[in-house]
Amino acid sequence: MKTLEIHIQENAKHYPIYIGTNILDSHFIAYCQTSRKKWIIITDSHLVDNLAHDLQNLLESKNIPCDQLHFPAGESYKTRETKQKLEDTLLKKNYGRDVALIALGGGVVTDLVGFLAATYCRGVPVMYIPTTLLAMVDASIGGKTGVNTATGKNLIGAFYQPVAVFMDLNLLKTLPPKEWSNGIVEIVKHGLIQDKSLFQLLQNNPEKMTDCAYLSHIIHESCKIKQQIIQQDERDLGIRQLLNFGHTIGHAIETLEDFHIGHGEAVAIGIIAEAYLSALSGFMDISIVEEITRTLRHYHLPLKTSAFNDLDLFKKAMILDKKSVSQTPRFVLLDDIGKTHQENEQHVFSVDSSILDTMLEWSQKCFS
Ligand code: GLY
Repeated sequence: MKTLEIHIQENAKHYPIYIGTNILDSHFIAYCQTSRKKWIIITDSHLVDNLAHDLQNLLESKNIPCDQLHFPAGESYKTRETKQKLEDTLLKKNYGRDVALIALGGGVVTDLVGFLAATYCRGVPVMYIPTTLLAMVDASIGGKTGVNTATGKNLIGAFYQPVAVFMDLNLLKTLPPKEWSNGIVEIVKHGLIQDKSLFQLLQNNPEKMTDCAYLSHIIHESCKIKQQIIQQDERDLGIRQLLNFGHTIGHAIETLEDFHIGHGEAVAIGIIAEAYLSALSGFMDISIVEEITRTLRHYHLPLKTSAFNDLDLFKKAMILDKKSVSQTPRFVLLDDIGKTHQENEQHVFSVDSSILDTMLEWSQKCFS
C-alpha cells in the first residue's frame, strides 16, 4: 500500500490518502474504529446493492456503528434537491455531530457528499472511497465539493477537506472503458503540467493499465502532482489554476455538446488545442502537439466533436469559464512537456484574437 499525506498550508489541515489493493479491510476498519463516530455510507443507486452492503456488513461485523443512504446515480442528481433530501433523512434519524460520512462512488458522490458534510450540523467529518479512476486522481483530492444548478456546474459548494481517502484498485476492475479514459486524460494532464516522466510512462505503456503495480504507481504519481499544487493553493486563487490545463476548451466542448460527450474526451481535445495555442504563442515546439496527440490516441479517445461547427458560439462558450476576465478567456499554456508557461507569477494567459482564431479554425479541421 502507498500513502500520501496532504498538508493544506492555509488552514493546517492534513489527511492521508491510501492507495492499494484490498485496502478496504483491516486498515480501513482500524481507521473507522479510531473515530468513535457512527459512520454513514452514502452512495448512488449503482453501487448500493453490492459494494455499499459489503462495506456496511464489514463495519457491523466489527461492531462499528454504521448506516447507509443512497441517491439516484448520475450527474443530473448532483443537485441542491438531492442534498436536501439526504439532509432531511439524516435529521429524521436524529443524527447530529456524532456521525461521520463515507462518500462511496465517483466524482458526483464525492462532490455532493463532501458538500453535505461541510454543512451538516455546521460540518461533520467525511471519508472518501472513490470508485472511478477520475475520482481517485481528481475529485477526491483537494477539497472541492459542490452541486450543479441550472446556471452551471459546481456553482454552489465549499472547500472542505476529507479526513481520509481510501483508493482501492480492486474497485476499478469493473470500470467501463469511457470511465477509464476520463481518468487517464487527467493523469496525462498532470504529467503535461508538471512531470515529464509521468507523461513518458503513459506514452510508452498504454497496454500496462491493467497491471496493478503499474496502475498503483501511476495513480500515486498523479496524486502527488495534485497534492503539491493544492497544498500551496487550496482556494484556487493561483497555482491551482494549472490543474485547469485543457479545461477552458474542454468545458466549452462539454457545454456545446450538452454534456453528451465524456469529460475525458472533451478535455483530451482541450489539451491538444491548448497545446497548439502554446505553440502558436511561440512558447512550445509544434512537434510536441503531435506527440501529445499520438499519446492520447493510444488510449482510444475518439477526438471528435461537433462543438467547433459554429466558432462564434464556441467563443461565447469559452467566456463562461471561471478563469475568464472581462469577457476574455484565459488558458494554461505549456513551455514544454512537464512545464507550464509562467510570467510575473501568472499561471493563466489571454492570447491575441488572431491566434485564438487560428487555433479554432485548426481545431474545426482536426476534430470535426
Ligand atoms: N479539478 C481541478 C481542481 O481540483 O482544482
